Amino acid sequence: MSEILKVTGINKAFGGVQALKNANLTIHKGEIHCLAGGNGSGKSTLIKIISGFYKADSGRIEINGNEFSRITPIDAIMEGIQVIYQDLSVFPNLSVAENIALNSELYNRRKIVNWRNIRGIAKESMDKIGINLPLDENVENLSIADKQLIAICRALVNNARLIIMDEPTTALTRKEIRKLFEIIKMLKQQGVSILFVSHKLNEVFEISERFTVLRNGENIITDSTDNVDSEKFIFYMTGRKIEEDFFIPGTIETRQPVYKVENLSLTNGFKDISFEIYRGEILGITGLLGSGRTELALSLFGLFPAQHGDIYLDGKKIKINSPIDAVKNGIGYVPEDRLAQGLFLVQSIRKNIAISNIDNMVKRNGTVDYDRIDSSLENWVKELSIVMGGKEDAASTLSGGNQQKVVLAKWLETNPRVLILNGPTVGVDVGAKFDLHNYLRRLVENHNIGVIIISDDIPEIHKNCNRILVMRKGKICDEVVNVETTEKDLLSLITKEG
Ligand SMILES: Nc1ncnc2c1ncn2[C@@H]1O[C@H](COP(=O)(O)OP(=O)(O)OP(=O)(O)O)[C@@H](O)[C@H]1O
Ligand SMILES: [Mg+2]
Repeated sequence: MSEILKVTGINKAFGGVQALKNANLTIHKGEIHCLAGGNGSGKSTLIKIISGFYKADSGRIEINGNEFSRITPIDAIMEGIQVIYQDLSVFPNLSVAENIALNSELYNRRKIVNWRNIRGIAKESMDKIGINLPLDENVENLSIADKQLIAICRALVNNARLIIMDEPTTALTRKEIRKLFEIIKMLKQQGVSILFVSHKLNEVFEISERFTVLRNGENIITDSTDNVDSEKFIFYMTGRKIEEDFFIPGTIETRQPVYKVENLSLTNGFKDISFEIYRGEILGITGLLGSGRTELALSLFGLFPAQHGDIYLDGKKIKINSPIDAVKNGIGYVPEDRLAQGLFLVQSIRKNIAISNIDNMVKRNGTVDYDRIDSSLENWVKELSIVMGGKEDAASTLSGGNQQKVVLAKWLETNPRVLILNGPTVGVDVGAKFDLHNYLRRLVENHNIGVIIISDDIPEIHKNCNRILVMRKGKICDEVVNVETTEKDLLSLITKEG
């Protein structure tokens, strides 16, 4: 028997939302399988059912040939299924060795922890994937990538035969992604199966041997990745053909920049940053993790005010010392880390959309104008194809990509004069990404607004920004025009030393 996992006819509804309809998934032993699909297509839900976190409404789960009508998290672990969630669930204040090995000591119901054992187990597990992290280091001092490796080692200690990763590369640098992929291949050699979810098509093609596509909770296809190209793959995911062409601005109003910064500096962040943006433009700022791009974004929004330099809006000097200053001056910011910075997760979707624009959402008598909020919500749901249950549902019930769209809607609702988007499509599926880009293009064409996209997604920046600034080591080192450069050249500028 070559199948480690076979799930068939899975149904799962949340209230009125049918998240999975008769969904199937089969994973072979030792294969790398990609689970793909648009935002809200049911990928995370399926993973949570396999790991015993949710109970399916109906369907069969077979692991190693054993059938389960209802699988518990303990069953899943006992059968060798380990999920590495995006928060990684490591214990920050425990050491590397403890994080890797403590669980297994607990499962073995030991009363007294054998510390030598713990270190030995942790070391052995790291050896399996060829890494060597300091055993006694507190995990909170490690990078996200290392935390992820620790989660993988912990899975191995628990005899993982199938490791499931939900969007594992989101917070990793290019180098770290390379390393993760090497390790995934090593695990495959050792007979471990990998199921992973990714919205980055190049990754899907590089690493996975087979794939399964879900759309609206239903199976569309399972096939070998050799049998498809990205065009076909996108069609399976979205049901439409998507070809992104270059953004070439119509008329750029060059008389006066809508926004301009001069010699901005922030210690340990960036130095001497100057640029301007004209109406009708989409300006791109790119660079590696650590190049200063995120610090700059946060600073422009007043979270880390720059110590030196000036900012001008329509030729008038403004002071941005806090996000409140930024909002007052019509500067909108879509943050990178939407879970921590972008949404009130326990609040309703409706309230989340209204919150940054609440002043305009009240009636003359001072009460909240719910009709106005609802019509704006309806508009954004249509405009950005937001998939959701009901408007009163908590924002936490939205799928990852749809949360991102709500953050965007929340800021668009304020009618900003300058909109800064930091990693706007991280976790957003190809179809929605395309829609979002088109939306931004229409926005700059029809309105008096300057848009800045800060991103390390090279195709995104290259296709959608007419001018691109490249940051290295806290400085803007190059400026290019999108149609005059290639993705490859842009990548070499980004990674250039010195
Ligand atoms: N706890 C929940 N309560 C209510 N609805 C939910 C819950 N979890 C998921 N859903 C809904 O089920 C559907 C599938 O969501 P799921 O998170 O599985 O999507 P996904 O494929 O992982 O998407 P993404 O790529 O955006 O992460 C969505 O419509 C989502 O809003
Ligand atoms: Mg998901």
